Amino acid sequence: SSIAVVVPAAGIGKRMQSEIPKQYLKLHGQTVLEHTLNQLISHSNIAHIYVVLHPDDMLFSTLDIADADWITTVPGGDERSDSVMAGILATNHADWILVHDAARPCVKLDDITNLLKLSKDNTGGILAAPVRDTMKRGDSQHVIKQTVCRENLWHAQTPQFFPKQQLLTALHSCQQAGIAVTDEASAIEQMGGTVKLVEGCYSNIKITHPEDLALAEFYINQQNRTYL
Ligand code: CTP
Ligand code: MG
Repeated sequence: SSIAVVVPAAGIGKRMQSEIPKQYLKLHGQTVLEHTLNQLISHSNIAHIYVVLHPDDMLFSTLDIADADWITTVPGGDERSDSVMAGILATNHADWILVHDAARPCVKLDDITNLLKLSKDNTGGILAAPVRDTMKRGDSQHVIKQTVCRENLWHAQTPQFFPKQQLLTALHSCQQAGIAVTDEASAIEQMGGTVKLVEGCYSNIKITHPEDLALAEFYINQQNRTYL
């Protein structure tokens, strides 16, 4: 079965509070987005990537990889799900869609391989990591209301991997119903579909706050990245 890879990179990175969107900040002299794309294209099952950019993006064209024949750029939308939808609609001849955040440059190739194995059973899934800390539910005054049992709790990550038609249908019906979803799995869940959790690594962080940059550099250093 053929896989199309969609990388949403159309966000503005509000929480990073930097002048340029976080996907263009540098780790070891290369932008976050380049690390993510170069890592994905290093995977033996990935041959092409649809990169979803902000309609006003001025920075992608300045990158070394801007004219690579393995990249197709697509204009994104206001919400992540709009950007992902735009990316999926730009793909053709794909049976499966792998969605991976531009802001997750530390993903490991072996974990992607494990996720891709799901296509054998025709059930989609996501990379995720089991929760380590004791979890508390608080109220608006930051008073604990409840201790949430950690058993069976996971951090949802990307990549997220689903049959194209199932994902398109799910995202479309969430859009129609006005249901906001922050990841692809939520859309599938809304439809009553099955989503598998494939255990990945804690190091697959989403760069969100300024302190995440040094951590990402550390994790990337730990891996022997072939493109570096
Ligand atoms: N994204 C996107 N289109 C949007 C919003 C987000 O393509 N309208 C992408 C981001 O570029 C990022 C990924 O989705 O690679 C995950 O989103 P997030 O980490 O929330 O990034 P931002 O939305 O840019 O950051 P923030 O929420 O802090 O503004
Ligand atoms: Mg966001």
